[in-house]
Formats: sequence, structure tokens, C-alpha cells
Amino acid sequence: MSPTTKRTQPDPDADEAKAPPEQVKTKFCPKLTSDESARIEREDTPEREVEAAAAGKPLPRLELTYPSKTLSPGENGPPVPFQQPTPLTTFSYDSERELRFDDSSLRYYVDPPHGADLRHGYEKWIKRPEEKGRLDGLLRAWLRVRNGLPDEFMNGGVIAWRGVMTRILTAPYEEREGWQLNVMCVNGTVYLEEHISDAKLLEKENLTPHHRLQTYYGYSFESFCTSGMPHAKTGWGGDVDTNIQWCSVVKTKLGNTRLVIGGEVDCVRGKSTKTNDTLVELKTSLTIRGQQDESRFEKKLLKFYFQSFLLGVPEIIVGFRSPAGKLGTVQSFQTMQIPRMVRGKPGSWDPNVCLGWGERFLEFVKEAVQGDVHSAPDGVEEVPVVWRVEFKPGVGISMSQLGPEAVEEVQEGSDRYGFLPRWYWEGSLYNQA
Ligand code: A3P
Ligand code: MG
Repeated sequence: MSPTTKRTQPDPDADEAKAPPEQVKTKFCPKLTSDESARIEREDTPEREVEAAAAGKPLPRLELTYPSKTLSPGENGPPVPFQQPTPLTTFSYDSERELRFDDSSLRYYVDPPHGADLRHGYEKWIKRPEEKGRLDGLLRAWLRVRNGLPDEFMNGGVIAWRGVMTRILTAPYEEREGWQLNVMCVNGTVYLEEHISDAKLLEKENLTPHHRLQTYYGYSFESFCTSGMPHAKTGWGGDVDTNIQWCSVVKTKLGNTRLVIGGEVDCVRGKSTKTNDTLVELKTSLTIRGQQDESRFEKKLLKFYFQSFLLGVPEIIVGFRSPAGKLGTVQSFQTMQIPRMVRGKPGSWDPNVCLGWGERFLEFVKEAVQGDVHSAPDGVEEVPVVWRVEFKPGVGISMSQLGPEAVEEVQEGSDRYGFLPRWYWEGSLYNQA
């Protein structure tokens, strides 16, 4: 069904039936300080103007200036608080990529064999096809847990995969890789997904043989470090199938914004405790041979840190390897100690800069989408309101509302409303707990 097709709405609940809502508006009104408002400017670019004219209404475009990294935390004001993530649920993807609400894909940590060859099993690698960063699995999990939370819990909150939140928070130090997000706001909750164009998807699918092998080393390390049973013997943990994943969904808060974040967790140490205490992230990196390598590794630690920090994973185990994939030293890092390790070093980073930026970014996005209307007057479905956020390294953030064609491209068919699965969107609007 196309986004403009007429649809009959499901029955609203009793209260709504008394005064049927013509338009469902977002319910939160994030307030910006006058200083922050000053950084948000509206402007129309030529191509948007063309699209806007075609659609018969202006499409806004907003910009957020790049954060300063030179300010010390004191000058930035007090550090933005980040609440300890609390696990809500876990789930597994099996080899068929079916989602199951169990821990069947959970792996247990085992010390890897000394000097392991990370090329082992390369030919048998079952590689998960690259896909768009859809929120479907996370939303299924969220639907199962949200009934246990207060009704207004996610009013003004954000739901995203951990990878998206890592990209946002590490942007102040990102010098090379830009990114794009699709953003929607339904009933006061903001949804973020990574926007991956078809061309980008193809590029990711067709890695050079060198890059493909390098990528495999990371997965192979995971296999050497894990087993399907606790306290197993050291050795190969089984052929790599990257369809299989175990994911954790947590709730947390950055500044005033509640977050529900989902992401893959590589394994647990000892046994699963339903807390974050035993979770482990596995990483590989080239063996450090000099000052330059050390600085490079410390830069990489920024991503390692936030990836784990966001889900509350307390331990990161790094396998240092040769360029040819021979495993060298294996070192464990306490996630919370990492900022202290890099402090004062050349090219160091400050997590408070990232958290301060993250808060500003989320407030900026919420301010933009707060007036969005997902309306269904007279049973006629309108084109969903979808925004595109673009980050350009060294430049900053721009955010614009998509025109109908771009929305259709994001939607890719009838079973979605914007990028949200239709079953979720209908459930969100009409079957709230
Ligand atoms: P390393 O992180 O050891 O390099 P994750 O560490 O996030 O659990 O991911 C496991 C492995 O997937 C990575 O191992 C890497 O090999 C591969 N991988 C993850 N994200 C990637 C990316 N953006 N580009 C290339 N490979 C990636
Ligand atoms: Mg890993």
C-alpha cells in the first residue's frame, strides 16, 4: 500500500472515542535554553525548495554547529549525567535470522588459544547479508517490556540501536566517516535509524578481499573466545555464522532524555546473571609497536568505550593481532577505567565532551520533531513525517524533513509507516498500554 492510500483506522479506545483525535500530536515540549536556540537556524536549500514546492508546503531545514573539543569539562558546565543502564530484556537471532525471546544465542567467555590463527575457518564463514538499520527487532522487544513501565515513560524518550547512539556520541572526534539517520516521532517518542542508501549497502556487501578477511579476524576472535557452554575448554568455538547474535535491551537516561537502546553483546563471563555485571565485549586490534600505533589504539578506544558504556558492558577484552591474523597478547580493560587511561595523552578524548554533545544533539532533534503530526483525519492516511539527519565530519549536523518521494524510498513498500513496521505504528497509536 502506498503511503497516500486511504486506510480505515482501528477503533480508538473508549476515551478517544468520545472525542476522536483528528490529529495525533507529539506530547512533549522540550525547552531549549536561549543559548541553544541561537545555534538552531532554519533555512531552505534549493533542492528542498523544489521538493517543498512540489509538495505544496515548506520543508524545514535545521542546523547544529559542531561541538568544541577544546573546552575543558569545567568550561562546558557540569558533566551531563548518564544513568547506569538497566537491562530490560535479552533476545537471540538464530542462524535463520529468526528472532527468539530467549538466550539460545548467548555465548560464554573462554580464554583463547595462545597464538591462534584468526584466519581459521574463513572459507566456512556464513556472512549475514548487509541490511538497512531497521528497528524491527528492538521494537518487538520494546513492545514486550513497555507494559511494565509507566504510561508516560517514553514521552520525550528516544529508541535506537546502540550503534546509532555510539555514532552520535563519538561524532565530536570523528574526522572521516559521516553518517545519516532517519528520524520519526510518534506519540512523543523519537525513533532513530541509520539511513543506509542502496549504493552504500552494495558497497558494504562487496568488500575487497583484504577488507573482508580483516573483518573476519574480528569474528574469528569471537569464536576462539567463546563457547555455547560455560567453563568450556580453550579452542575453536565453532564456525562463524554472523546471523547468530545475542542482544541486550536496556533503559537509561542521558541528561533529561530517556533512552531505550538495543545492541549485540558478545558473551558473558562465568554465567548469565540477568544483570550487566558479567557481560563482555570482544575486540581485535593490531599489535602496538610504537608511539604512533599507541595513539591510534587510544583513538579507537573511544568507540570501544562508548559501544560498551551505552549497554553497561563492564569489560572489554582486546585481542592484539598481527596483520596476517596471528593472535598475540590478550588484554582485559575495565570499560569505566578507559577514559582515565587516555586522559592527557596526545590525541586524547574526553567522554564528557561526547555526553554534552549527545545531550545537545538529542534536544536539537526533539525540538525539530516536536510539532510533527501523524494524522489520520477521516481515515485518510497522510504521508508519514520523516526527517533526515546528516552528520559531516568537521562541519556538523543538518536536519531536514523528507519530501514524499524520499519518504517512499525510506518506507520501501506497504508494510511500513515511514521506517516503522506497520504493526508497531498501529500498536503505538491505538493500543497503548
Ligand atoms: P573487531 O571489533 O574485533 O574488529 P563487534 O566488535 O561490534 O562485536 O563486531 C564484531 C566484528 O564485526 C568486528 O570485530 C569486526 O570484524 C566486524 N565489524 C563490526 N563493525 C564493523 C564495521 N563497521 N566495519 C567493518 N567490520 C565491522
Ligand atoms: Mg565485539
